[in-house]
Amino acid sequence: MTEEIIRAENLTKVFNKSLVAVDHISFSVRDGEIYGFLGPNGAGKTTTINMLITVLKPTEGTASVLGYDILKQANEVRKVIGVVPQEYTADEDLTGYENVMLCADLYGIPRDIAKKRALELLELVELTEFKDKRVETYSGGMRRRLELACGLINRPKVLFLDEPTLGLDVQTRAATWDYIRRLKKEYGMTLFMTTHYLEEADALCDRIAIIDHGKIIVTGAPGELKDSLGGDIITITIKENADVTSIIKSVEKVKDVRNENGAYRIKAENGEATAPLIIEALRKKGYTVTRLSLTEPTLNEVYLEYTGRALRDTEESRTEFMAQRLHLWRARKR
Ligand SMILES: Nc1ncnc2c1ncn2[C@@H]1O[C@H](COP(=O)(O)OP(=O)(O)O)[C@@H](O)[C@H]1O
Ligand SMILES: [Mg+2]
Repeated sequence: MTEEIIRAENLTKVFNKSLVAVDHISFSVRDGEIYGFLGPNGAGKTTTINMLITVLKPTEGTASVLGYDILKQANEVRKVIGVVPQEYTADEDLTGYENVMLCADLYGIPRDIAKKRALELLELVELTEFKDKRVETYSGGMRRRLELACGLINRPKVLFLDEPTLGLDVQTRAATWDYIRRLKKEYGMTLFMTTHYLEEADALCDRIAIIDHGKIIVTGAPGELKDSLGGDIITITIKENADVTSIIKSVEKVKDVRNENGAYRIKAENGEATAPLIIEALRKKGYTVTRLSLTEPTLNEVYLEYTGRALRDTEESRTEFMAQRLHLWRARKR
């Protein structure tokens, strides 16, 4: 089998002949990794997933999943993948168990096998206790877990998760991350996910691609991306009124020193080890450090560096999510 589970080549989607939602992106996802698309609303994440899962036809370019071409072998692709969509799809009036069985039906899984699997999956996402309760009564986190169970009913080798924790609070989000990690660890699954939460990408993904305006800006492991910024930032203030730039510069692993309003902003590899060396070098020359702080670059800084903008966890998406749910609820009551 191929090492590259997903391979996209110049994948492009233009809507209405003018809106370039996905703009010639190429990437590959390796066996057993969690690969994440990180980007703001409207970046083209869902559109990319929809092409990979054969729901949307690319305008240009192509992709393969487990070696199957998304255009020429769409049926094969569908058989080996699982999908947990961004929008909420479970039926409120049915129980959790009935919803999973419904998903099994869609895949044509024989009833006796489906029953066994449904119970197994509900156990995996810790919904056994609630399996016979109507989804109406479920919390946001429980609904997302139910969706996860549905996405796994056909025992997929690759799972696509579109914004798996959209609209969930921080704690519920962290719990969902645990289930996702288990899929990778215990089932050796490969996961392709999207998110606009920086912490989520950082905590969960082995590699991420930052996507903006339909283009991939940069790809790498979260740690690599942070390292690419050139190390930690140490900020130092000294008691004496003197220029000690050259002393700081002479310390090994110091890459850059700038004096900003009396404080020294130092870029250094391995800040934790380098900071004491700087203090020592200054002390030897008779200077006293009065203040020191150390900042390790976060994914936030990475995002800022590469896109020139901050990625905020907007309230917008939460509102959107609630509106969607309300809409569904109204539609069902009619
Ligand atoms: N079916 C569609 N028809 C027209 N425009 C669309 C359609 N789906 C998405 N778009 C547009 O494509 C862009 C990317 O959308 P999407 O892939 O949903 O982004 P994301 O999932 O990153 O928020 C947006 O500008 C969106 O409005
Ligand atoms: Mg989306």
